[in-house]
Amino acid sequence: MLKDTFGRVHNYLRISLTDNCNLRCFYCMPEEEYSFTPHNRLMQVDEIEQLTELFVTQGISKIRLTGGEPLVRKDAPAIIERLAQLPVELHMTSNGIRIDDMLPQLVAAQFKSINISLDTLRSERFFKITRRDYFERVRANIDLLLQHGIRTKINMVVMKGINEDEILDFVALTKANPLEIRFIEFMPFSGNKWTSNQVYTQVDILNKIHTVYTTESITAGPHDTAKAFSIAGHAGRIAIISTMTAPFCAGCNRIRLTADGKLKNCLFSADETDLLTVLRAGGKVLPLIQENIRSKSKELGGQLATNFEHIDTDFLKNRSMITIGG
Ligand code: GTP
Ligand code: 5AD
Ligand code: SF4
Repeated sequence: MLKDTFGRVHNYLRISLTDNCNLRCFYCMPEEEYSFTPHNRLMQVDEIEQLTELFVTQGISKIRLTGGEPLVRKDAPAIIERLAQLPVELHMTSNGIRIDDMLPQLVAAQFKSINISLDTLRSERFFKITRRDYFERVRANIDLLLQHGIRTKINMVVMKGINEDEILDFVALTKANPLEIRFIEFMPFSGNKWTSNQVYTQVDILNKIHTVYTTESITAGPHDTAKAFSIAGHAGRIAIISTMTAPFCAGCNRIRLTADGKLKNCLFSADETDLLTVLRAGGKVLPLIQENIRSKSKELGGQLATNFEHIDTDFLKNRSMITIGG
């Protein structure tokens, strides 16, 4: 069992397959020239399988594939096929572009849910945020997922002055579609030029929604990142991920494996344990995993102030979001 010193048991592993992506979102990828990790330094199919099997013996029962964009990796179908054989729930977070190409594999692997990152419903704004022209394809692929009965959530990172004026348009999508729209408070990562005054908070989001809708709170599971709400007469629901103003670390059950095989016990932890190098050298990986979990901080990697207005990003020791995967 992967228990930390605060008694939290970790059964949810997020595996980043690559730091490569077919979009260039400014809030995720550093603006300066970024070179993707070469393929031989990424965990290979067998290595992902071996490490995951080891984690499964330690109680991991939920796996989420992330990136960068997990589906840009050429061997993503092989990885998915292997992981689908293990006794775990499979989930994925994707930008949605390659869902149509991969649909048969995704259906065969019986994903429990797929979360799609989409921050705007306007094609021109999509281009401004992502620097690529894929809006129509992503939008169509969300419908494709729903047509195939795959549980789908949309992640919308709300940023002041960028897209907060679209919150109500996103809520409107839940009327006819059984989607969960998750409004996410903007978080600081290396190179994303975060400032506290760009954070559109949970309170701001709810106030905006309540100008038009009445919401009813849905009881959250003990490990949920999102607080969900229903709206009478809507097929879907909305949710808020309030890392900055109301962290949910007390119920944390998540750990992360980066695409280059490093274990991160928190989204914001500075310390990482290199499992891949040790695996390749034939060393013992399990004691390293256990030690890493024991060193987990109580909240926010021990790095962020709970009063988000006082966070000084100059002192933040972390990767950029594109190399963590959320
Ligand atoms: P579900 O399994 O569907 O609940 O998804 P998830 O929230 O675990 O994952 P997803 O990749 O969809 O992430 C949605 C948002 O939540 C992103 O902004 C992530 O960075 C953030 N997030 C995911 N896991 C954590 C976490 O452990 N801590 C914090 N603070 N944020 C997280
Ligand atoms: N703050 C909040 N959420 C972010 N994501 C990416 N960067 C940030 C950020 N700076 C979200 C993406 C994706 C998920 C894995 O994390 O939208 O859906
Ligand atoms: Fe867990 Fe760290 Fe996320 Fe808090 S910020 S919920 S401790 S991963």
